[in-house]
Parts: sequence; C-alpha cells; structure tokens
Amino acid sequence: MIDALAASPPKPSGVIRRADYRAPDWLVSDIALDFDLDPAATQVRATLIVTRNGAHDAPLRLDGDGLTPLSVKVDGIDTPYTMEGGTLVIAVPGDAHEIETRVEIAPAANTQLMGLYASGGNLCTQCEAEGFRRITFFPDRPDVLSKYRVRMTADKARFPVLLANGDPIASGDAADGRHWAEWHDPFPKPSYLFALVAGDLAANTATFTTMSGRQVTLGIWVREKDLPKTDHALHALKLSMAWDEQVYGREYDLDVFNIVAVDDFNFGAMENKGLNIFNSRYILADPDTATDYDYDAVAAVVAHEYFHNWSGNRVTCRDWFQLSLKEGFTVYRDQGFSADQGSAAVKRIEDVRGLRAAQFPEDAGPLAHPVRPDEYVEISNFYTATIYNKGAEVIRMMATILGPQKFRAGTDRYFDRFDGTAATCEDFVACMEEASGVDLTQFRLWYSQAGTPRVTASLEHEAGSGRARLDLRQSVPPTPGQPNKAPMVLPLRIKLFGAETAQPIAEEQLVLLSDGDAQLTFDGVTERPVLSINRGFSAPVIVDTNRSVADLAFLSAHDDDPFARYEAMQQLMLDTLVAAVTHGRADHASVIEAVANTLADPALDRAFVAEAVLLPSDSFIGDQLPVVDPEAIFQKREALRRDLGKALEPQWREAYEAARANRFEYSPAGKGARRLKSVSLGYVIASGAADGADLAFAQFDAADNMTDRQGGLTALVNSESDKRHAALDIFYNRYADNALVLDKWFQTQALATRDDTAAAVEALASHPDFTLANPNRARALVGAFAVNQRAFHSGEGRGYRFVADQLIALDQLNPQTAAKLVPPLGRWKRFDAARAARMRSELERILATPGLSKDMTEQVSKSLE
Ligand code: ARG
Ligand code: ZN
Repeated sequence: MIDALAASPPKPSGVIRRADYRAPDWLVSDIALDFDLDPAATQVRATLIVTRNGAHDAPLRLDGDGLTPLSVKVDGIDTPYTMEGGTLVIAVPGDAHEIETRVEIAPAANTQLMGLYASGGNLCTQCEAEGFRRITFFPDRPDVLSKYRVRMTADKARFPVLLANGDPIASGDAADGRHWAEWHDPFPKPSYLFALVAGDLAANTATFTTMSGRQVTLGIWVREKDLPKTDHALHALKLSMAWDEQVYGREYDLDVFNIVAVDDFNFGAMENKGLNIFNSRYILADPDTATDYDYDAVAAVVAHEYFHNWSGNRVTCRDWFQLSLKEGFTVYRDQGFSADQGSAAVKRIEDVRGLRAAQFPEDAGPLAHPVRPDEYVEISNFYTATIYNKGAEVIRMMATILGPQKFRAGTDRYFDRFDGTAATCEDFVACMEEASGVDLTQFRLWYSQAGTPRVTASLEHEAGSGRARLDLRQSVPPTPGQPNKAPMVLPLRIKLFGAETAQPIAEEQLVLLSDGDAQLTFDGVTERPVLSINRGFSAPVIVDTNRSVADLAFLSAHDDDPFARYEAMQQLMLDTLVAAVTHGRADHASVIEAVANTLADPALDRAFVAEAVLLPSDSFIGDQLPVVDPEAIFQKREALRRDLGKALEPQWREAYEAARANRFEYSPAGKGARRLKSVSLGYVIASGAADGADLAFAQFDAADNMTDRQGGLTALVNSESDKRHAALDIFYNRYADNALVLDKWFQTQALATRDDTAAAVEALASHPDFTLANPNRARALVGAFAVNQRAFHSGEGRGYRFVADQLIALDQLNPQTAAKLVPPLGRWKRFDAARAARMRSELERILATPGLSKDMTEQVSKSLE
C-alpha cells in the first residue's frame, strides 16, 4: 500500500497542505457524460476510463459532494463500493478499468451556484475549484486531465440551446418533445474546466481567422432581449484573440469559442474550455446601462478568460496551491491588453489603486497569505487579491527584471514545455531563468513570503562636493505564521531630477534592492536633487521617503513618468490628510497649488488629470494611520475637498463645461472627458456652490450615457439636496426591469457618504428587489456598505450587526459568496478598542452559528486570531 492519502478529498474541517502533494493514484484518460437534464431532477451517467498511476494497491477514490450513487459498475458489472464522507471508494483489481456511475442531482435547488444550477430558467455549471464533484463522482483535482464527451438531452421548448466544451458533434430530436446534442473536447482537461449550458438563448456571432488561417466561430449567448448589449464583448473578444497572437504568439485551438452570460454567478467569469461562462455584468453593455468603468471591465474580463485558454487551460495548475500560476499570470496578461487599448498610464494607476484598496489590506491583516499558499481549509477562500493581483505584480517584476525579449522567451519556453500538462509556479520561474540566464533564486521569496515589503529611501545632497547619496532599506512585516522574513528582491526604477532646472540629473536606473539595505551615490550633482522612486510602481511595496512637500509638489508637476507624477500628488495629499487627522493641521495650500497646476497643464491627458486630482480614499488614508478614526478621516477629507472646490471653483467649472458638450463615444478621449467631468462636478458641489445640486440633477436628467447618469445620481445621493429622492425614484423606475442597473441603484446608496447611510441600507435590505440569492445584489448592498468606511463603522456597532446578520443568512444559501464578505469585519485590529470589541463580538456570533459552512468557519476563525 503506497499511499491513499493523496487521492483523498479535503476532510470537512481538515487543513490541506502543499507539502503533502502526491501524484494521483489513478488517472482518467477519457470520460463520457450523459445528462438527462431537468431543473428538478437531472440524471447523470458518467463513464470513466481509469488507469492505475504507478505501482500501488490503493482503491479508486472518486470525489463526490452531496451525491448518492444510483449504480456503480466496473467493466459493465455492478460492483460493491463504500462511501467515505462524500467520496466513493471502489476496490478494483486491475490496472485499467471502465467505471460507470449514475447519480441524480437537483439543479433548481442548488443555491450555492457550484456544480450544475439554474439561473433565470436556464441551466449552467460552475466547477472551479471543486464543483465538478457536485455533478458526478470523479478525481476532482486539477492534475487529472481527461478527454470529455458530453451528451445532453432536454426539453426542446424550454432548453432549445445545448452547449458544452469543445466542438459540437451531433444533435437530434428525441421522444416527448425532447432533443439532444453531443459535444467533444479533443483537449485533455481537468474537471474544473468542464461546462455545459442548456437554455433559451440567442447568440451574437462572428468569425475570427487565426494567425495560421483557422476559422473560428465566436458566439456570445444571452437572452434574446439582451442581444443588442453584446457587441462590445464580441469586439473585445476579437481584439483579445489578435492581441494574444501578437504579444504572446498564442493562437486559439478549437473551431468554436462560446461565451454564455448568466445573472446568478459567484464571481466574475469562468474560463471553461471553449465555453466561457460569465456573470452577465461582464458581458452586457450599452451606453444607456453601462458606465465607462463597466465597458472597461467587460473588455478586461473577456480578455482575461480568453487568455486563460493558454495560461490556465493548455497549461493548467498541478494543485490549487499553484492557483496564481494561472491567475497572476493571466491578470498580468489582461492588464497588458487593457493598457494597449487606451492610456497605459491611467491603466497602471487604476491597477495600483485596486491593489492598494484590496491586496495591501489583505496582506496586512489576519487573512494574509503567500502568493503560493502553504495550506488552506477551503480553496474557494483563496481566490484573493493576493493570488490574482499581487500574483500579477510578481510576474510584472520578472518582466521588468528580464526585459521584454527575455520575458517573452521565458513565456514561449513555458508554454512549449508544459503544454497539455499541469504545472507549478516553480516551473514558470525556472523557464524564466533558463530563457534569460538570470538567477531568480532569491526572487522566489515573492511566492513564499506574505506581507507588503516596506522600503525607506532617504536622499542626502552635499552641495559642496556635488555628491548625492541615496540610502535604501527594506523590511518585510510579520504575517500570520511567518514571524521572520528574509530580504526580497525589489526592482526599483529610480531617477533624480534637479530642483532648479527640472532636468534629469541621471538617467533612470533599475535598482535591484536585494539586501536589507543599500547605498547609491551620484556624483557631479550641482543642484538640489529630487528623488523619483518606484516609477511605474515597479515593485508592489510601500515606500517611505524623506521628500518634502516642495519635492512632492515639484514631482507632481515635472516627473516624466506618469505614474510617479500621480504618486507624488497622492503622497502630497496623503501627507496633508494624515497631518490633519493626527495633529488637526489643515494646511491645504500646497495641495491646492499642485492641483491647480495639474488642471492647467494642457499637455496632460484628461483621464490622467482626473486620476491625479482625486483625493485618496477614506480607507487608504486609514491604512496610513496606527488607529483608524473613520469619522475624523471623513471630516478632514471633506474639508480638503471643500477647500479645493472653493479655491479652484472657476477651474472646476471650466473643466466641467469643456467636457459637457461631448456626445457619448466610448473612446479613450471620451472616457477621459467624462471622468474629469464627474470629478469636477464633485468639487463644484464640495465648494458649497448654490447651483451644485442643480448641475448634478441636470447632468443626471440629460445624460445620454450611464456614466454621466450615475455620476449625477451619486453626487446627489451624497448631498443633502432633496433632489436626491426624485433622482433615485426616476432611476429606479427607468431601470426597474434591469437587474444590473438596479444593482447600481442599491450600490450607490450603500456607498453614500451621508450621515444616515447605515439606516438607509438596513431599510434597503427589506426592499422587494433585494435578495441574497443573487450574488451581484448581495454584493451591491452588503458588500458595498461594508467597504463604506465611515458608514460601516458608524452607529456603535449597528453596521457590524447588520453585516453579520446578512452573512449568517447568506451562508445558508451560498457559503462562497458569504465568506468573501468577511474581511471588512476581520479588520478589527485596526480600530479603537470599542469598535474592535464590537467587531469581534459579531465575528464570534457568526462563528457560533450552528451549521456554519467550512468557508465561513475558516475566514471567521482566522479573522479572530
Ligand atoms: N478562474 C476564474 C477566473 O479567474 C475564477 C474562478 C473563481 N472560483 C472560485 N471558486 N472563486 O476567471
Ligand atoms: Zn482567472
């Protein structure tokens, strides 16, 4: 008996460890699935060709979750079996067998939205990470790759369209108004990439010709009435396919590529081979219902899922600890795609803002984990900003260190060598090393050490000798289970500017800080140097510098790296706000002057200006403070907004008017103009101008696009103006039958900066359109409210209680979606003793709930440590 443990499924409360990885005992070369589809009772027959993997006498163990075998046959003969928890265990004598199992499942009763479930009258699947075991018995782990044949039979009137992975093979009519279809996927794949869809759907189709001349039929499948909203996604798909050929040399490999949009979905989308399934919010877009942000997100997610065809499907993950192998790399790829569609600088700013909003707090809190985790209880809890976004930064750093040619040589090597296999993060890094000759031994710490490194940089200049010295020091903070850290490799793009001439003193250099500290000297420095560091956000770290207000203002006007320029302005604003919160100082003059200069610079792209003049968020300000005081942060930030609004009122009005005349066009310039328009409107209102609410209402009312309409609505909802009620009603009535827009209606109110937000959100939870059964709706109200720093932490624990109540209720339906919403409560250590105690007691109340899911139990108990 060699080892049966490796193939055993996660024990309900057990910890799964990366170090325990063992190759599978049994492989499955082929699987044929036969579905008799019905929402209430679907019959699934699975036929597996299994082969013993290596010399051992372990039984065949097939993962199952909530399944009862109706029959189990080995080589056509009914065979005894045992159940260990959900796992089907069959003692089989030989080295190769045909196993047939039959089960019945109930998609309509599946509220977890994992496995086969019903959404809007259609049937669809979600299998990543461990949903396939809710459909049929199978070794549900990503290193078992099989060829799939799928046959579906269903009522023809109700489910006229039957889709699965790969290529359609045959279809026909059956008795009793039913019909059937067969699909075959020639590429061996892990079970998490299985998908089927049955429904009343219509497709927006197109043809794409690949670089080698293969014709691919593309289809975006939605409800008939939503067809007009699919052009943007289809266009993004074609752009993505061409981009992956040009930038990575990756070609699509099947004759069809289908995407289906569904309303009930636990996350963004899923890269099932040849049949991506999407949350409809990342497919449907038209000017009347989608903001520019939505348009960008649709294109980014379409690209992301498409890119997975190589980084994820052709080369998959050996085990779930390697999740960032596909997710970090694919996020890096989709970021590159989006950067190439418009302003790369603005895209980088947005990505860094996102990283700081979601990943930095995660890395600084109780749920911190390495990009390649060492253990988990529930893998669904590890689809995190660390795996995705920090993972993308890790790939980006390798690209920066190697340079574009060697990086591309590394990805070519990786795709070629591991095509058709299940690989590891180590395999990827080794390919980068081999292709470049660069030693990445120490760099690998980025995969194993959690926590955001901190760099202290101080620049001293000796005018007499003309020598400047830059001292760099790094430290990596302790995180749960990792008290001591080794220094990491931090690629820092650095440049010095002369304060008088505004000219570069030295060309930009890439400094690889790999020791705890380092010194750099610069000679012949005749004027005072100003330090530009971590340009382009070349390393995902926190940088503390000794730069003065004057230096930051200088850089915000003169730095030639757009990210560094934005960063200087952010730092100036942050320093000002932190001083205001901690010492009550309110010296706003430097920020006002810097913002005025940025607004007045005609050379700057409008989208960049809009990002640069925006104040850091309440939560990011809070992240800079030893103890977060949400109310003080809000008040000081509002005071700065008011002063900026007042001091520059003519400039804001001018910027607003300049953008107002434009008709809607989804283009980089159009987006930039709208963004600056809404930022400017916000400042005009903040100034206290008497006509602020009228301007907002007029914009809301006359808008020819959702960006402007929602921008006007948001401004009103955050104001004291009575017009906000009218605007909310108009918006609600106009979009009452559009779930995605109603989500915006809920979310805008949940994010409101008003005093009565907490009460309003509680009332909205009883609104007839509110439901926890739809993840988008739950996130729009509960998720948004929990990140509204001021509102969530107001009212002596009222916000915490509300969120905890909702999470307890949601966990009954959908543990994955509930567990994702735990982190805001888990941040209790960052708050004063009274708030911390209240947050903890809500976490304890959740943990004490009978029948709490494994997902919630892991998140909440870690959050209490
Ligand atoms: N692989 C999908 C994507 O990144 C997401 C799957 C999320 N699964 C989960 N259990 N959270 O596009
Ligand atoms: Zn992904």
